[in-house]
Amino acid sequence: MDIHFGVDYYPEHWSRDRWETDVRLMEEMGIQVVRLAEFSWHKLEPAEGSYDFEWLDSIIKLLEEHGIKTVLGTPTAAPPAWMIKAHPEIQPVDKFSRVRHFGGRHHDCQSNKTYREYIRRFVEEYSKHYAYNPAVIGWQIDNELGTYFDESCMCPSCTGRFRQWLKEKYKDIAELNKAWGTAFWSQDYNEFEEITPPLLTATGENPSALLDWKRFASDLIVDFAKLQADIIRRNCPGQFITHNYMNFANRVDYYELGKLLDFVSDDIYPAGIWQKQPHQPEHEMAACYDAVRGYKKKNYWMMEQQAGIAGWNIMGRAPAPGEISAWAVQAVAHGADAIVFFRWRTCALGTEQYWHGILGHSGNPGRVYEEIRSLITRFSPVMKEIKGSMPRPEAAMVHSFELNYALDIQPNHPDLDYIGHLMGLYKPLYDRNIQVDFVRETDDLSQYRLVIAPLQYLMTKEIAENYRNYVNRGGNLVLDMRAGVKDEHNICMTEYELPGELRDICGIEIPEYDCLYEKKGKAEYKEEVYEISKWADIIELKGAEPLASFACGFYEGSPVVTVNQYGMGRVWYIGTEGSPEFLDALFEDILSESGVGGIGKSPEGVELSVREKNGKRWLFAINFTDQEKSFKLNGTWRMILGEREKKLQPCETQVYVNDLGAAEDKEETSMKEELLGMSSKELFIVLTEGRDVLLRAKLQNILREHLKHYGKDSFNEEEENVDLRLIVGEYYDGKYNGR
Ligand code: GAL
Ligand code: ZN
Repeated sequence: MDIHFGVDYYPEHWSRDRWETDVRLMEEMGIQVVRLAEFSWHKLEPAEGSYDFEWLDSIIKLLEEHGIKTVLGTPTAAPPAWMIKAHPEIQPVDKFSRVRHFGGRHHDCQSNKTYREYIRRFVEEYSKHYAYNPAVIGWQIDNELGTYFDESCMCPSCTGRFRQWLKEKYKDIAELNKAWGTAFWSQDYNEFEEITPPLLTATGENPSALLDWKRFASDLIVDFAKLQADIIRRNCPGQFITHNYMNFANRVDYYELGKLLDFVSDDIYPAGIWQKQPHQPEHEMAACYDAVRGYKKKNYWMMEQQAGIAGWNIMGRAPAPGEISAWAVQAVAHGADAIVFFRWRTCALGTEQYWHGILGHSGNPGRVYEEIRSLITRFSPVMKEIKGSMPRPEAAMVHSFELNYALDIQPNHPDLDYIGHLMGLYKPLYDRNIQVDFVRETDDLSQYRLVIAPLQYLMTKEIAENYRNYVNRGGNLVLDMRAGVKDEHNICMTEYELPGELRDICGIEIPEYDCLYEKKGKAEYKEEVYEISKWADIIELKGAEPLASFACGFYEGSPVVTVNQYGMGRVWYIGTEGSPEFLDALFEDILSESGVGGIGKSPEGVELSVREKNGKRWLFAINFTDQEKSFKLNGTWRMILGEREKKLQPCETQVYVNDLGAAEDKEETSMKEELLGMSSKELFIVLTEGRDVLLRAKLQNILREHLKHYGKDSFNEEEENVDLRLIVGEYYDGKYNGR
C-alpha cells in the first residue's frame, strides 16, 4: 500500500466514545496513516514491569478497519513519574549543575544506565507486541532527539562517559592536551579523570574542548537511538524505522543518525511564533527540505506538517486559506513521499493546548479539514505517479554539523549565524528556480556543475583534497570568508596565510582581515555599489582575477570577490557576507559561467521545482502569495493538475509533466555536432576560455567520464598528451558507459 497522507493522533487524550468519530472523519478525508503513542509511556507501562497495550491494540484495530495504518513512536522522550521517583538520577543536569526536573518532557539523561535498562526492557516488550501486526507499518524512535534544554546533560554519568569517549579518541592525555591547546591558561590535564563537561566557568572557555563536547553529545544521542533501533530491527523485520528531524537543528549530526534509519522524517512549522513573520521565507523552507533529503540522499516523510496555529503559551498566527496546502506541496516538490499533519485535533490538555490541529477544540470539521481533504483528493493520484522520483539538482551546497558547532562556539562576528549564512547563499539559486542538494564536505561532488561551500572554517587535508579534485576535473566551486582558518581540533592553522589549505585553488592569500563590527561595508561590482556585512578579507591576488572590490575601509579598492582557474575548473572566493542584492548580482554571473540553468523564471513568490524518475519529470508550480500570478514554461510541459494554464490563484499549486525530455535532446544533438566538428586545439580553447557555458560544461563532463574510465584522478598531469578530439569521439561512439 502506498502511504501519502496522515495525521499525528493522540487517542489517549480523549474518551473512547470519540474514537469512532475521529477515525470515520479521517477515513472520509483520505487519511492513510497515523502516528501514535510517542509520549505514552505511562499509559503503556503504568507501573514498573506491568504493561498495558490493550488501549493501543484497540485503536490500531479500529484504524485498520477503516483502512488506516499506524506508525508507532517509542515514548522515550517522556519517562513516567514512577521511574523518576525510583531513580531521580535519570533527570538531566545542566551547565549550572541544576537538575532539570520531571514535569515537561525530555527530562532524561541519555547515558544513564538505569534509564537505558528501562528503555531496553520496554522497547523489547513493545516491539515484540507489534512486530507482526500488519496494521503497524513502522516505528519512530523517540521524538525530536536533541530538543532538551539549551545544553546536553552534564551529570556524573555523562561526565564519565565523556571521559571514556575522550580516552578512546586520544588514548594518551598528552595527545588531548595538544589537541585542546591546554598550554593556554594552565589548562593541562594529568589524567582524563580531571576533565569535566563544560560546566559554568568563571570566565572564557576552551573552544577545542567545547567542540569535542558537542561531538560527544551528538555521538551520545546516536548511541541512545541505536539502542532502540537495534531492538526494533531484530524484533520487527518487516517494519521501517524513522525519526522526526528538525530541519537544520544542530544538536545531533543528522547524517550520522540517519545511518540507523530506513528513511528520515521531518517536522516543520512555517508560521510558528519563533519564525520570521508572516512565515519562514519560502527559500528557507526549501533549503530545510533539501537538507532533509540530503541527510540520507533519499526521499523523506514529513512526520509533523503544520496544520493550524502553532503555540504553547503564546500563539502564532492562523495559516490563511490555502497556505497549509502550499507548504505541504512544497515539501513534496522537494522530495517528501508522505505528509503527516500535526495534529489531528487541537488538544484540550497540557502544554500544547494552543498548538492547533486539523480539528479545533470542539472536534467539528471546519475550514482546515475541508482544505486538507481537497488537497488529499487532488494530490493522491500525483503522489502515486511520482513515487520513487527525486529532484536531481546541478548545484550543491556543502553543509556540516561540525562547522555549525564550531561557529556556534565562536561566531567570529556577533551576528554570524552558520545556517543563516547558508540560507543567504541559497536564495539567489532559489529565486531562479535552481534546485540544490545539500552535501557533506567529503562527498563525491563530481555530479554537480556548481558547488557552494560556505564558511569552510575547520579544514583538513582530506577536505581540501576533495575540493581540489573536484575543481581540477572541471568543477565550479564557490568558497567564502573564514575558509581554512582552523584544524579539526578547532586550533588556528599557522602554516600558511589564509585561506590555508585552500589557497592554491583560490589563487589568493589573505594576510589581513577586518571584522565589520557594528557597521556595514560596501563593495563595488560592475560599477554598482552593494552592501556587505560582518567580514572583510583583505585579499592579495596570487593568480586569481579580481571581480569585485571593497568600497569601504582602509582596504578600499582591494578585491573582495575573486575567481581563479584551476585545472579544468574554477574557484570563486567571496571575502565577506554579501547583502541579498550583492549575492543576487554575483550569482547571476556565477551561475551562467557554471552552466547552471534552472527550470525557468517565475514571478516573486512562485516556486517551480522538479522531481524526476527514468527521464520523466514532474514540475510543481506553487504560488505562495495572496495574489494571482502567471509564469512561463517551455512547450514540453503538459499539465496534469489544474485548470488554468500557467496562472496560479493565491496559494494555488499545479503540477506538470514532461515525458519527452525534448528540449534537452535537442540541445544534446546540436552540442554533439558542434563538438565533433572541432579540432583538439579548438576544443581546448572551449575548455579553458570558452564562453559557451553549456558546451564547456558538456566537455567537462566528457573529460570526467574519460578520467573515470581510465582510472585517472587528475587532468593536469596528462594535459600534455591528451587528444581532446579523440576523447570526444570515443565518448560519442559509446565507449564510456555513463552519460
Ligand atoms: C514538535 C514536537 C511535537 C509537538 C509539537 C508542538 O516539535 O515533535 O511533539 O510537541 O512540536 O509543540
Ligand atoms: Zn547525564
